Amino acid sequence: MEAEGSFSSQCRYSYEECKETADWLLAHTEQRPKVAIICGSGLGSLADLLGNKTVFPYKAIPRFPVSTVPGHAGQLVFGTLQGREIVCMQGRFHFYEGYNMQTVTYPVRVFSLLGVETLIVTNASGGLNGSYNVGDIMLIKDQINMPGFAGENPLCGPNDERFGVRFLCMSDAYDRELMVLARHTAEEQGCDSFLQEGVYCMVAGPTYETIAECRVLQTLGADAVGMSTVPEVVVARHCGLRVLGLSLITNKVVTQYESTDRVNHEEVLQTTKTRAEDLQRLVSNLITKI
Ligand code: HPA
Repeated sequence: MEAEGSFSSQCRYSYEECKETADWLLAHTEQRPKVAIICGSGLGSLADLLGNKTVFPYKAIPRFPVSTVPGHAGQLVFGTLQGREIVCMQGRFHFYEGYNMQTVTYPVRVFSLLGVETLIVTNASGGLNGSYNVGDIMLIKDQINMPGFAGENPLCGPNDERFGVRFLCMSDAYDRELMVLARHTAEEQGCDSFLQEGVYCMVAGPTYETIAECRVLQTLGADAVGMSTVPEVVVARHCGLRVLGLSLITNKVVTQYESTDRVNHEEVLQTTKTRAEDLQRLVSNLITKI
């Protein structure tokens, strides 16, 4: 046993603990989804479209943390979408809420133990790329792990090989085949005019970025900035899941000192509302092709 407060006690979830949660879920639903979706801020209504639903509020699931952000429902929804069994996280856990990276990513390991093979992540983000418009959907082609640069990577600490390898390759983080499928699907449903493809950068938050920080991120090659997704993708790749990421550009970041524009959470939620349906349709049509 390690002393309380030691490194391993911070990494709260062992393989056995993840398995315990997965086994509990498997015992409480007959569904065996191969696709999991993490719904971002205001994008949780996708789960409402599911048929044959089994809903587990996070607080009912052994060891599951509870989400604290307004606009995040906080439940795991199993059901069928276009005839396919899927599981949706309606509300995710954020580092800025005070959860450590292992807690933020714990549901992904549970998904893997449930037999999930593909993870779809959605989020809201600020557009750094000057050619992006509010309401654009960005297909995430790569990511920048800012908290990782600062030592906050969910894979820090002892590695359990039952999940994955110690040194994980991240040059194929987002599945190229799934990106092609997503692009085709967007064309078919006529939303390719607002589909972008770019690099998502995660910052810890909860503060939005200063003007100087936005300029740094632009210089680094990021097209959009947000406060989530990256740790979940790291852990998903660690346990061998294929990943597709879709980011809704809810605001343009401010990069000029003369600008009087100010980003706020209400604006972010409002944009999400207007585009949520397109994004849901994209995900739902895509599901049939996976
Ligand atoms: N910055 C960080 N996170 C965000 C933003 C932003 O501008 N918009 C939505 N999430």
